[in-house]
Amino acid sequence: MRCRQARHRFTRTVGAAPGVAAGHPLRLAYADPPYPGNARLYRGHRDYAGEVDHTALIATLASYDGWALSTSAAALPTVLALCPPGVRVAAWHRGERPTASRWPLNAWEPVIYHGGRPNDPSRPTGATRRLDSLIHGVSPMTTLPSRVIGAKPAAFCRWLFDLLGAQPGDSLDDLFPGSGAVTRAWTAFTNAPDPSPQALTDTSRPSPRDATPHRGDAT
Ligand SMILES: C[S@@+](CC[C@H](N)C(=O)[O-])C[C@H]1O[C@@H](n2cnc3c(N)ncnc32)[C@H](O)[C@@H]1O
Repeated sequence: MRCRQARHRFTRTVGAAPGVAAGHPLRLAYADPPYPGNARLYRGHRDYAGEVDHTALIATLASYDGWALSTSAAALPTVLALCPPGVRVAAWHRGERPTASRWPLNAWEPVIYHGGRPNDPSRPTGATRRLDSLIHGVSPMTTLPSRVIGAKPAAFCRWLFDLLGAQPGDSLDDLFPGSGAVTRAWTAFTNAPDPSPQALTDTSRPSPRDATPHRGDAT
């Protein structure tokens, strides 16, 4: 019962895409690797393979029509230096994590993005209003202990899809699926039937293939 309610909440938050886009479908990708220097937090995960080679990752992303890459504010300068010209940076304000720090607490996560679909000038401005900033807090206190570190909430996923101008008919490769939340959100967004058993779970629930005790927030 709780599962069904969580799925309903998640799907409702993501919402469906507004309509089929004119023109050709886009190949889109989203990469949510561990923050550079923090891959060790995922030791024991099935897909753990040490530090992610961001140079190779960005080369892979560049083959898509549109892509987005989440990283940490601390790593942003280094990661940006590896990116092709024309990338943009969006900000997810997710709130701070309670931790001792001599410096201001980090409360946001950058999303580097490139390409995608621009607004259709023939549609009214209000219908296509997109923002490069999302304020949507997540509280570690409200998540299960076995939640995947860095699992993305439904509101983030919807914002991400809009950032790239995604439409039904496009494809999205979720390169670091973790809990599978982004893929589930994509299925809801494009209104396709979701055959996976994980569709019954919320982002805050452990997936059978990727469940690590929550240890703060670093991804
Ligand atoms: C930030 S999490 C992804 C969270 C996901 N977006 C979600 O919503 O649940 C990063 C994922 O990358 C995996 N991972 C860790 N090191 C990796 C590596 N070297 N190559 C590929 N995946 C790795 C982790 O196990 C984890 O599942």
